[in-house]
Amino acid sequence: MSSSGRKLIPALALAFVAAFATGCAAENYPQSIFDPVTDLAVRVNDLFAGVFWWTMLVLAVVWIGLVFILIRYRDRPGAQPRKIYGSNIAEILWTLGPALIVISILVPTVRTIFYTYERPENPLLVEAVGHQWWWEFRYPELGVTTANQMHLPVDRPVEVRLSSADVIHNFWVPQLGGKRYNYPKPAMAPGEAEGKNYNVLYFTVDTPGEYLGQCAEFCGTSHAIMRMKVVAQEPEEFDAWVAAMKDTSRGLPAGVPAGPGAVQPVAQTEPASLEAEGYQVFMRAGCAACHAITGTPAMGVLGPNLTGLASRWSIGAGLMANTPENMARWIRNAPGLKPDAKMLTFPNLSDAEMDALVAYLYSLE
Ligand code: CUA
Repeated sequence: MSSSGRKLIPALALAFVAAFATGCAAENYPQSIFDPVTDLAVRVNDLFAGVFWWTMLVLAVVWIGLVFILIRYRDRPGAQPRKIYGSNIAEILWTLGPALIVISILVPTVRTIFYTYERPENPLLVEAVGHQWWWEFRYPELGVTTANQMHLPVDRPVEVRLSSADVIHNFWVPQLGGKRYNYPKPAMAPGEAEGKNYNVLYFTVDTPGEYLGQCAEFCGTSHAIMRMKVVAQEPEEFDAWVAAMKDTSRGLPAGVPAGPGAVQPVAQTEPASLEAEGYQVFMRAGCAACHAITGTPAMGVLGPNLTGLASRWSIGAGLMANTPENMARWIRNAPGLKPDAKMLTFPNLSDAEMDALVAYLYSLE
């Protein structure tokens, strides 16, 4: 080997180690499968690690053997190949070796697969419904629906029932566990028989935190902008979130009468506040045809439920930060920001109407 070649190998090895050392810090990768926070993700990660290190052992044995044979049995003057045709020992070794390797991978793999389908005791049911291109999260036992940001209590088993309103999507929050498909079937009503036609994920989150995920199956133009966040909270915080989401006194701004007056605001009366004015814009512009807000007559189901909108992390399923400026841009021309988004455009709202509408939406905490 030339002297430059001799220097190259340690240099490459160093570069390799450096790339690993700097590239693998979990906090730089919020969607890393190597930082699991559920029993499911831990099991899958352990399986991966086990197979990986056994594979490394096989690799080492093969390479050491290869190097040894290349040197020991290299071509030399007068060298004769040794014939081992018909050697029983060789036949047994190279049949038994691979068989043992396959079994050592098969057994833990099958055990893990079975584990992922074991329904835990008394899970919290969440229906995750994929839409082009956003996520709907329903809690049928709690009477709560939200979008793109799933709240979960820690230390309680969860059953995430996966379905889709249109095409095939794929639910993937790497720190919570592996991908699983959302097939286009209507989400099951509460109390219906066990969902044999639904893909499910069972897991228990063990660490409070925020975990990012995304749709992992190509589902159309804005597939890449179909993200989600899971907010895992202490049980008391989760209960407080549920209570806030169900609080029917929060949707209507002060000064808007409940009952029929909420649907058809009396035109002559001056709105009591900017929020009340914005609420009237919301009803007038037809937003309620697609969106629901708890505590108001708005009960549309085609678009995301807007209850608690102000506390979400993004607009447009991870498209952009949840700020009033971005919200105004989104309402004006959503498909211009997110290709083929089903949200309608509202180019004709006046600036004053938009200000009021956005003020109302951000009062929904
Ligand atoms: Cu939904 Cu990709």
